[in-house]
Amino acid sequence: MVRYSFKAKDGTEVLIREPVMTDAALLMAMINAVIEEPMSGIIFNKKTTLEDEKKWLKQRMRDIERKKTVILLAEVDGEAMGNCDVVRRQFKEFHRAELGIVIREELRGKGVGEALIKRTIALAKQRMKGLEQVDLKTFTYNRRAQSLYRKMGFRRTGCIPRAIKEGKKYYGEVEMVLYLR
Ligand SMILES: CC(C)(COP(=O)(O)OP(=O)(O)OC[C@H]1O[C@@H](n2cnc3c(N)ncnc32)[C@H](O)[C@@H]1OP(=O)(O)O)[C@@H](O)C(=O)NCCC(=O)NCCS
Repeated sequence: MVRYSFKAKDGTEVLIREPVMTDAALLMAMINAVIEEPMSGIIFNKKTTLEDEKKWLKQRMRDIERKKTVILLAEVDGEAMGNCDVVRRQFKEFHRAELGIVIREELRGKGVGEALIKRTIALAKQRMKGLEQVDLKTFTYNRRAQSLYRKMGFRRTGCIPRAIKEGKKYYGEVEMVLYLR
């Protein structure tokens, strides 16, 4: 199992590691905290339950074993503070994978997102033979995420207008890609 230690910009010691089956409660607490934020940047709008999180994690652990997914989480003092995944696509899209990331509010702006993305992509390149490009989608209002992705080499490829609706407002979805070779 991959494990790295990382010092955030404010000195916080962060353990970056792959998940284990017993992480469901930690991951649930993290995602539910972000879901509560207005304009959270993530797609989910309904809190998850421990039961659903356990099912989700069980499936993801299988996908990790089959090299369809890599996931790294950022842990601080026994709590999950962020996670990043790269999920391989299938069939004629097998050369592509999709990246997702979330960092809890308390740890944002301290370099953890960047560190987590770098290591997750490196792990995906190592494990997913033939992977050529990583893409992602982010909401138009999420300038912070877009600037991080640009810094990491992702380029904007398109935008789907009115892709999501938060309350009564519509927002577009920006598509970005990183070519690995
Ligand atoms: C978007 C997100 C993953 C960024 O992670 P982070 O740990 O806060 O980012 P980092 O501290 O590693 O920042 C790295 C770079 O991102 C950009 N960035 C970070 N915070 C920023 C801000 N408030 N405004 C503009 N750019 C910002 C900068 O380019 C920064 O590099 P710099 O520090 O050299 O200037 C995180 O804020 C998050 O999880 N937000 C909520 C959920 C979400 O939006 N997920 C992404 C869905 S597509």
